[in-house]
Amino acid sequence: MCGIVGYVGPNNTLEILIAGLKRLEYRGYDSAGIAIIDDANTLHSEKRAGKLVNLVTALEQHPLPAGSTGIAHTRWATHGGPTDTNAHPHYGDYGKLALIHNGIIENFAELKEELLARGHTFSSETDTEVAAVLLGDEFAACHDLPTALRNVVKRLEGAFTILAVHQDQPGVVVGARRNSPLVIGVGEGENFLASDVAAFVAHTRHALAIGQDQVVVITDTSIEVTDFDGNTVEPVEFDVPWDAKAAEKGGWSSFMAKEISEQPDAIANTLRGRIKDGRVMLGELGTIDDEYLAGINRIIVVACGTASYASQVAKYAIERWTRIPVEVELSHEFRYRDPVLTPETLVVAVSQSGETMDTLMAIHYALENGTKVLAVCNTQGATIARESHGVIYTHAGPEVAVASTKAFVAQVAALYLLGLHLAAVRGSLPDDEIAKTLTELQAMPEKVTEVLASTESIPQLAHWMADTRSVLFLGRHVGYPVALEGALKLKELAYIHAEGFAAGELKHGPIALIEPGQPVFVIVPSPRNPQNLHAKVVSNIQEIRARGARVLAIAEIGDTAVLPFADEVIPIPLAPTLLQPLLAVVPLQVFAMELSQAKGLDVDQPRNLAKSVTVE
Ligand code: G6P
Repeated sequence: MCGIVGYVGPNNTLEILIAGLKRLEYRGYDSAGIAIIDDANTLHSEKRAGKLVNLVTALEQHPLPAGSTGIAHTRWATHGGPTDTNAHPHYGDYGKLALIHNGIIENFAELKEELLARGHTFSSETDTEVAAVLLGDEFAACHDLPTALRNVVKRLEGAFTILAVHQDQPGVVVGARRNSPLVIGVGEGENFLASDVAAFVAHTRHALAIGQDQVVVITDTSIEVTDFDGNTVEPVEFDVPWDAKAAEKGGWSSFMAKEISEQPDAIANTLRGRIKDGRVMLGELGTIDDEYLAGINRIIVVACGTASYASQVAKYAIERWTRIPVEVELSHEFRYRDPVLTPETLVVAVSQSGETMDTLMAIHYALENGTKVLAVCNTQGATIARESHGVIYTHAGPEVAVASTKAFVAQVAALYLLGLHLAAVRGSLPDDEIAKTLTELQAMPEKVTEVLASTESIPQLAHWMADTRSVLFLGRHVGYPVALEGALKLKELAYIHAEGFAAGELKHGPIALIEPGQPVFVIVPSPRNPQNLHAKVVSNIQEIRARGARVLAIAEIGDTAVLPFADEVIPIPLAPTLLQPLLAVVPLQVFAMELSQAKGLDVDQPRNLAKSVTVE
């Protein structure tokens, strides 16, 4: 949510910052702006409402100097609408200082009062401008940007990452963070600051993670990190495990199309190196060791959006394999309802970005209550991973499209590894069954490849349905969270009213929505399911068909029982019930993407959304 990037070095700052913004645009695209200090130590700035392309066009008409120090921002609006004036940077010290911000400054109103009383005026409706003006005043008093920033951030409440430059101190970018992401890219004779490594990975893969409540000062040859009081701290080093190419479209029509196609690798890479001799080997569990895991009696998974649906899928599997009760809770509900936590409760935080504020706050709550926290995270060095006792990284590679796809399957795979590891530690499943399930899991990448190869009917289907106003999704057992995820994808990407339901719940209300022609996707369990879920779902299909629904079934290859009742069948390969979500979700992702395209919408950057939601 808001992307920020800063650079000091001998190369073309303007080009580096714009390229960085392009890679961060998934974080927000309501407006974009840039500030550069030129070689004569003058601050230049440009900002525009709308997507980055508007800023780029403005810069083509009125180029800024290349410079060697600068900051740039892409915004997801919170305080104040997406206008040129509200776009970042904001200015202080009579235009000599520029500041960009990600987060929300909760006490901005009271600080603004104070600044108004001092005679300052404001041009925007943002909380950010207050920080810029305050920093300008502090700089005017002490003439040192790091000192001024430390003085300012101590007065701010809320969540923020701030970057600033001042023309009287050229060659320096300062940054600070509290509960919002900021990483350092360590170059040779140049250094970077950014919300996410994607902004600088084309220049360096060597990075430093900055902790909570820390201030960083970069020049071309130096990096200094301190706490808000100025005490030196050692940042944590890490290397980015992918190169710039991985975060490029590489010939695909959209990042989403590319990421959907990468799902076999996302699963395979998440499993790779973690299965040996029929057992799970998880290397980064920290203090969440076997002894601790043997004693837990409850798991609470906290997550938002797609990550919460992946977690709901995993709940079925982990409970079945371990007999430990698993609750899946939306992170933002968790900490406000006074949850019962004991030392025997394991909190698992699932997050692609590792920066989602709601999930981070849920972790803080769990930690404050003495509960161990395990992160399942896709981003190396992310805050959620660092603040947890242990981490299982999903190795899906960078996910750029705002709507999550490959992260879902990677999260399911990682949580399944956790479930099978727990089952081994606790002896709740025989060893041979664990080994067999792991082998079945390892076969899933190939089966996902088969699904991807058999989605050829979906573009036509989406094309026919481009004017549809509502689509329902039904699933039972693990198919239920898949139905929720299918509906979420359609809402996000095609702006169509979409609801997912548990198929058994149909007769308790949702069936009233069925009228002739209503499209309903149904995730059909395998006919081989021992609980006979298949027959129950086929009955549900008949109930909606009798009322005129248009049934689009996702069913196992060879499932002839469903054919007479479905208007369209999208086949998926045979898989054990608990693994079927890894296959069934794929056609739903493809459908949402195709429908979005059929409506001429922006698949990668749907309206009003952002990939990494760093505000509560
Ligand atoms: C945002 C994104 C979703 C994502 C959710 C959770 O809403 O648009 O795609 O599922 O955040 O993100 P996380 O990074 O915590 O998995």
